[in-house]
Amino acid sequence: MPTTDQYAVFGHPIGHSKSPAIHRAFADATQQRLTYRAIEAPLEGFTDALHAFRREGGCGCNVTVPFKGDACSAADWLDPDAALAGAVNTLRWDESGRLLGFNTDGKGLLRDLQQNLSVELAGRRVLMVGAGGAAAGVIGPLLQAQPEELVVVNRTHQRAESLVEKFSAIADGRLKTAPLQTPGLGYDLVVNATSAGLTGEMPTLPDGLFGADGWAYDLVYADAPTAFLRWAAAAGASHRHDGLGMLVEQAAEAFFIWRGIRPETALIISGLRP
Ligand code: ATR
Repeated sequence: MPTTDQYAVFGHPIGHSKSPAIHRAFADATQQRLTYRAIEAPLEGFTDALHAFRREGGCGCNVTVPFKGDACSAADWLDPDAALAGAVNTLRWDESGRLLGFNTDGKGLLRDLQQNLSVELAGRRVLMVGAGGAAAGVIGPLLQAQPEELVVVNRTHQRAESLVEKFSAIADGRLKTAPLQTPGLGYDLVVNATSAGLTGEMPTLPDGLFGADGWAYDLVYADAPTAFLRWAAAAGASHRHDGLGMLVEQAAEAFFIWRGIRPETALIISGLRP
């Protein structure tokens, strides 16, 4: 008897994840028969939970904080973005049972910036604030968009230097770091990749970061403007967006990896806005 293909998102905590709603909407829109649920794995128990899900008929899953590194270790094969980032947000078992690992965060960010928001990146100056896992997940695809430069600043400067070093082979000299207090002026796009906003904080940044018609993009999303986007408004950013579009686009990329169909995203993004 055919069973319904099963998908899930693993995280801890996972209660407020929008991924089940997004993937169920994708499945309805593309007439794909599948289930998708949220699984809160114990902090030390991701791999066991993943194997249990597979035994129950799991075909693939998303992985979020704090398990993206564990998912990277669990995979038998990694796509180039995941290998460079050292983090996996999408897993799929192939026909022979091999576990394939992908990172769709960067592609999701690029799709939201370039296609949904029509942000020009080629030849532009981009500043990334933050040098943790979220930053590592998006640097590779951002570099592929051919900015004139991508400057990484971070509260702990050494971490920014390590990240820049890690990506130097693919950066063609365009990836740099600078002190958090003096990051340079007049950027076309400033991306907040810190987790500071999750606690309502934000890094202390100087004035003058935004050039004329500058964009501010927060990888985090929230129902109300984030601390970073509120600061960006006061600092003169002409355009300000949170990461809801990126969230839906990285999900669409995962759905494509699993199902071979790319769902439309525009209505789903607007439907998730409060
Ligand atoms: P994530 O996977 O969300 O990126 P992470 O790897 O722990 O989480 O990285 C968190 C990032 O947010 C780091 O760049 C961190 O700066 P440090 O490397 O100095 O810790 C940054 N961050 C978190 N809280 C911050 C705050 N209050 N001010 C400035 N930066 C902050």
